[in-house]
Amino acid sequence: MPTAHDDRDATCYALVPCAGVGERAGAGGPKQYRHVAGKTVVAHTLAALARVPRITRTLVVLAPDDLDFAASAPEFDGWAEPCGGATRAASVFAGLTSLARRGARPHDWILVHDAARCLVRPAAIDRLIDAGIDDAVGGLLALPLADTLKQADHGNRVAATLDRSGTWIAQTPQMFRLGLLRQALAHAGDSVTDEASAIEALGHAPLLVRGEPDNFKLTWPADFALAERLLTPDAELKVFVPARDFELSLRFYRDLGFAVGSNDGNLALMRRGRLAFFLQNFYLPAHADNLVMHLAVDDLPAWAEAGARLAAQYADHGVRASAAEQRPWGLRDMTLIDPTGVLWRIAERSVGAP
Ligand code: CTP
Ligand code: MG
Repeated sequence: MPTAHDDRDATCYALVPCAGVGERAGAGGPKQYRHVAGKTVVAHTLAALARVPRITRTLVVLAPDDLDFAASAPEFDGWAEPCGGATRAASVFAGLTSLARRGARPHDWILVHDAARCLVRPAAIDRLIDAGIDDAVGGLLALPLADTLKQADHGNRVAATLDRSGTWIAQTPQMFRLGLLRQALAHAGDSVTDEASAIEALGHAPLLVRGEPDNFKLTWPADFALAERLLTPDAELKVFVPARDFELSLRFYRDLGFAVGSNDGNLALMRRGRLAFFLQNFYLPAHADNLVMHLAVDDLPAWAEAGARLAAQYADHGVRASAAEQRPWGLRDMTLIDPTGVLWRIAERSVGAP
């Protein structure tokens, strides 16, 4: 155990395991190098760590054959070490050895943070450091489990409902002293999926510090779209869509799932979740015939179904819809022509595209 004297001069380092292959995230290479909101996942992660002044230096653990990191995080000015192992625990362990070689001392604090948690907020990291810095063991960001917890049988049926009281979901950073963590991981082996469980296996009780739901680990394909939404600055660009028959277009867009936000009879604000446009009682054929709305969605089949339904319902008013198809320009999309002749191209969102 560290002494009180050690506490006063301990340095904080961050260690970012970045050597995984991202199998569960599906195609597209290691998930930490996919683009979200204009930057790679790991660039967002490292930018968040760089905004915590008490973190003196960050070490990124790369796969030995990594060729992507340097171009993926051009602003990073810490250490990168191609010492990743076959499991996350092996990568972290190798990273600790590298930190020790670079001068980190046994009583220094190491904040291990997944490259794939790119939504972590500096304020949450600061809370963890505040809570952990004077603690004998250290701790981790975590969230009390809100949902009911099910144990599955070997397939997709419920075998049992587990008691969720007192249960937390472990996040990162996880903050432990270099010496204790090296000892714990050497003892626990490669199978532990976080640092805390290795520390627990030595009989210690890490501190649970409340984190935030945003700090989820990008794991499944749909997580990238969610991260994109959360990381995209909030601004709204709205188009004025013409209407030849204003009441008819209002009905059409309502049937497509848009709600009418405001309507003075000549201009209506149409909203559907985060989508919005103005419907305008205005019609110039050349304008209407040349206006194309491009919409990227995550649930194209549902839009295709709605398009087909509306094409049947409004067939007498010129509404047409095509089925979803793969296009030569690399997108899968469908078309929908509204009662005024405005063309909507509704495409499947290509998550991770730069
Ligand atoms: N990681 C690592 N070395 C490994 C495995 C994982 O450094 N051998 C890193 C990942 O790059 C990621 C973090 O540990 O930043 C969390 O792991 P996880 O979410 O499991 O990432 P992957 O192992 O890449 O994903 P998957 O398990 O779906 O393959
Ligand atoms: Mg993994």
